[in-house]
Amino acid sequence: MSTRGNFSGRIGFILAAAGSAVGLGNIWKFPYLAGQNGGAVFLLIYLACIFLLCYPVMVGEIAIGRKAGTDAYGSYQKLGGSKWGYLGLFGILAGIFILSFYNVVAGWAFGYFLHIGFGDLLNEKDFGAFFGFFTNDILDVSSAKGLANSNFIFSLVFMAVTALIVSQGIQKGIEAANKIMMPALYSILIGIIIYSLTLPNAISGVKFYLIPDFSELKIQTVFEGLKQAFFSLSLGMGALITYGSYLKKNENIASSAAVISLADTMVAFLSGLMVFPLVHFLQYKANLTEVATAGPPLIFIVLPQIFHEMGPILGRFVGGSFFLLVCFAALTSTISLLEVPVAYLVDQKKMNRKSVVWGIALLIFIVGLPSMLSQGMIPALNKLDFFRGQDFLVFIADMCDISLTIGGCLMCVFITYRWKIHNMDEELEQGNEGYRKSFLRKYLSFTIQYVCPILLGVLSILVILDKFWGIDNIF
Ligand code: PHE
Repeated sequence: MSTRGNFSGRIGFILAAAGSAVGLGNIWKFPYLAGQNGGAVFLLIYLACIFLLCYPVMVGEIAIGRKAGTDAYGSYQKLGGSKWGYLGLFGILAGIFILSFYNVVAGWAFGYFLHIGFGDLLNEKDFGAFFGFFTNDILDVSSAKGLANSNFIFSLVFMAVTALIVSQGIQKGIEAANKIMMPALYSILIGIIIYSLTLPNAISGVKFYLIPDFSELKIQTVFEGLKQAFFSLSLGMGALITYGSYLKKNENIASSAAVISLADTMVAFLSGLMVFPLVHFLQYKANLTEVATAGPPLIFIVLPQIFHEMGPILGRFVGGSFFLLVCFAALTSTISLLEVPVAYLVDQKKMNRKSVVWGIALLIFIVGLPSMLSQGMIPALNKLDFFRGQDFLVFIADMCDISLTIGGCLMCVFITYRWKIHNMDEELEQGNEGYRKSFLRKYLSFTIQYVCPILLGVLSILVILDKFWGIDNIF
């Protein structure tokens, strides 16, 4: 254990795992999904997924990792035999693909941070056109806009910073970075919320966000809520198995997992509370009947427009802080994503940590190029015929989402039939003496053996049918 490194204690582990969970999923995706899916209705479904499906899977993953004390592949293999190792590999592969497109979007956020904080982005007239132009042309350093086009470079730098942190190891790298970025992230988030709530028309945004509109409730809302919850909590691909393997034996897994889930859900909830008052402020200020809150461009098109409305000084400050927040959130996630394949190569192949980190980071950056190029530069990647005309980045992101729920489902099958629930109980008892007699044990045994595998299995199949053929055409 000592040669692999470990977290210094409970706080270090919780901050790192919460850092993995809190990311673009919370700040970029959650608000626009809520906007598209009926505001508070989405929130309710999301919470149900966390409670019923995600929390048990999270506890299971951390328990597997801590018991085995090794990477995702090695953990399944050690506890279940070589065939189960493939489940770990499947997760590692999913992590590689997630990081490949995630880093592209993180690069956009980093670019926006520089452009708003230090450049003249807020002078733009048409932010939609700018975003198109920015994501389209990935490398044109010499253009009149200077670095405006070079999101190739932004993304490369983001990956390099990620690699630099991961190369420093568990305590000095991952834990230390999270101990700085996570408190900073919460502070910026709360600061912007307080400010946005003072703006005219803010309350109408809060109402939209918090009053459920049940007419919006569709089966797709459930799919979106489930996928989002899994992605947001970094489940189903081995990140928490890997982080769990660095957790000391005397720490309480069940309560740590509860704190991590809560911290992540809070940030998603608060991000909505930050974004919707801003959006409704814009509606009021620019006299618009409606503002498009739907879709990925929300934070890259609508928000800059709002920062523009705030005037050059305040806009630069609030906008710069916002994108710094997004960068911190993304970075605490990319380091966990990179750690998963790194741990595999270090633990299984006994390779040198530093070289593995840089090698894998470069490889994943290259794997991400098609996603980067799919925003317009290569038209064939921009509209995939077999994927209902969506672009390659969305395709990869969707495939990864599906692999997470399948991974979570199979993890429950693994615990139930192979590792056995009583072995998990034994692991959970360490650091939690009363666990055996607790209600929580009954709840986790029941959900992991019955609720999660069945629901996750059925929903994953339905999600796949919906993605490729459109579920409304089938039933
Ligand atoms: N949870 C991260 C987010 O919400 C993304 C992520 C997924 C990180 C899977 C690690 C593993 O942005």
